[in-house]
Amino acid sequence: MAQHDIAIIGGDGIGPEVTREAMKVADAAAEVFGFSLKKTEYPFGSQHFLDTGEIWPDAQFEETKQMKALFLGAIGDPRLEVGKIEYGIIAKARFELDLYINLRPIKLYDERLCPLKGKGPDDVDMVIIRENTEDAYAGMHGFCHKGQHHEVATQTMVYTREGVERAIRYAFELARKRNKRKQVTLIDKANAVRAQDIWTRVFAIVAAEYEDIKTDHAYIDAACMWMVKNPEWFDVAVTPNLFGDIITDLGAMVQGGMGIAASGNLHPGQVSLFEPIHGSAPKHAGKNLASPVAAILAASMMLDYVGESTASAAIESTVVELFKSGQLKAVTTGAHPTNEVGDMVVSALRKVGASV
Ligand code: IPM
Ligand code: MG
Repeated sequence: MAQHDIAIIGGDGIGPEVTREAMKVADAAAEVFGFSLKKTEYPFGSQHFLDTGEIWPDAQFEETKQMKALFLGAIGDPRLEVGKIEYGIIAKARFELDLYINLRPIKLYDERLCPLKGKGPDDVDMVIIRENTEDAYAGMHGFCHKGQHHEVATQTMVYTREGVERAIRYAFELARKRNKRKQVTLIDKANAVRAQDIWTRVFAIVAAEYEDIKTDHAYIDAACMWMVKNPEWFDVAVTPNLFGDIITDLGAMVQGGMGIAASGNLHPGQVSLFEPIHGSAPKHAGKNLASPVAAILAASMMLDYVGESTASAAIESTVVELFKSGQLKAVTTGAHPTNEVGDMVVSALRKVGASV
């Protein structure tokens, strides 16, 4: 029986409660499909930092490098200095594990979840490839004359040929593998951010190697408009880090809400991190009201990544069926008690298991 070593960080706010449900579902899938998960849970997050002063010590960080995957609930806490925990946990994992792809599927499972008039599951089925280690996120920033009226603040948008190329290549490979519209859209702002000309040029070079894949281009402002007006125009889209962050929140709304959008931070072939794309939502924490669907779907992506593709697909189709049958009504906070959603998915999954 295959065993997969997984590190788990529930994190802040609603993170621990949605993680609990996601792991409940992952464990049930392991039982039904015959593999095991060796889970190591870590207490890291803002409360742990406030209690102990540690964020993610080197010894534990090294341990996670030996695992197949990491699962993260959510991080962010208004009690901490802005960015402290974000750079200490999620950015640390992304940069130090070189998780260069942020894979963010935007898939509408049921028409009732979509706020767009007249759009259904056939119209909203795309994947955003967000470059995940560069751009304004690279951390190169500074201030001078801090606090004075002539203060200067800078942050550098960094693009390397290697970083840009590997994200674009991943997008083309994915478009081929998905075999849907067979199209990759480059989303940038090269008309204003001239450094993004490197994206324009590298995209053209890589595209030439994929004659079976169509190409498209949209500036980020227009892409936001098209995503709402004509989401069916997108198949796979690739974009720099910051625009990818922003447009995937928009995408989450189009697919039903932050409570459903999942993501994988990948370094193909190496330990990778899976998380819902939502934040810690401190005001909803501990109330058993948050939707764990995004976390459950992130767990499904994680199982696919570790090689359990049947279990992964079964979780996804179980969630789709629960929406279609009306048992799962919405993913907005309070639509269902958090634990009941996990229970619902587990019991439907066991029925799938009983029938195979
Ligand atoms: C995300 C989040 C993070 C990001 C935050 C928590 C730093 O918004 O994963 O989309 O901006 O990348
Ligand atoms: Mg974000």
